Amino acid sequence: MVIISAKNFLLWEKKQLSKGGDKNSLSLLIDLLGGLSKKKLNFLKIKSEKNVELKINLELLEYFWDQHLSSSIPIQYLSGISYWRDLKLEVSNKVLIPRAETEMMIEIITERFKNKNEKINFVDLGTGSGAIGIALALLNPQWNGLATDIDKNAIEIASRNFTKNTNQSNLKFYLGNWWNPLVNFKGEIDLAVANPPYIPLETYNELPKEVKKFEPRIALLGGEDGLEQIEEIVRYAPSYLKEKGYLLIENHYDQGDRVKQLFLENRFTSVKVLKDLSGIGRFTIGRYK
Ligand SMILES: C[S@@+](CC[C@H](N)C(=O)[O-])C[C@H]1O[C@@H](n2cnc3c(N)ncnc32)[C@H](O)[C@@H]1O
Repeated sequence: MVIISAKNFLLWEKKQLSKGGDKNSLSLLIDLLGGLSKKKLNFLKIKSEKNVELKINLELLEYFWDQHLSSSIPIQYLSGISYWRDLKLEVSNKVLIPRAETEMMIEIITERFKNKNEKINFVDLGTGSGAIGIALALLNPQWNGLATDIDKNAIEIASRNFTKNTNQSNLKFYLGNWWNPLVNFKGEIDLAVANPPYIPLETYNELPKEVKKFEPRIALLGGEDGLEQIEEIVRYAPSYLKEKGYLLIENHYDQGDRVKQLFLENRFTSVKVLKDLSGIGRFTIGRYK
């Protein structure tokens, strides 16, 4: 632990911000690498006679901030940690940094499965850091979860994130292409969730540097029109879902109508495009027959 006066720390913070970057990123860096939460940081601004305890010294913290400023590397990759809902997840540049808009998928599911005693089998396709699958497994200890990803590193990180967050054992991880590793569960799934790569090629090429340079291409790029992976997930879903089983997919801001069409073509019913908090048709949900 490093102890310094709050006054000196606040001067240091001011100096860092004068170099560029934004306040939220610096607060996140101070939290994830320095061990000082935003709440405590704000408190210091009122009680500046206090001392500050940091996990690393200011020189090292400054070194990381300079790295972020010069290369645009996301703070989450510098620290190896990302917050998502109430979870603290390990991340590396092999997995997507889980996004705030994806958190709403958990609310959508919770709204539909209100009976807390119901035991269901769910699947998180393309689990990445494990965010969605882990949140569902923790919220519903009686559910049985299966998570897949095509990337070995992602599967390793997601499994570690699960065991670090709980000693429950209701989520299993499988390496492979979308549904393929789940052949033994055909016709047994009540709910499948996916946040697949859905960015069209042209949009991908224009992504900001901090995303394109650091986040895995395989997690973002959905082919020429962005729909290649979504098409595959929807096409094979009927073999795995139970009758009336749910499929919930996150899509790009303008793909809602086309994804809805794909669901209908594959004999899904009650298909709806749901809006995120910005009013964008971000999620498509339907039931198999
Ligand atoms: C947009 S990221 C989502 C990660 C995580 N579910 C989340 O919401 O943060 C998409 C994930 O799908 C995985 N993926 C891409 N192609 C895949 C495939 N063919 N089969 C299985 N997973 C795939 C990527 O490795 C990546 O982890």
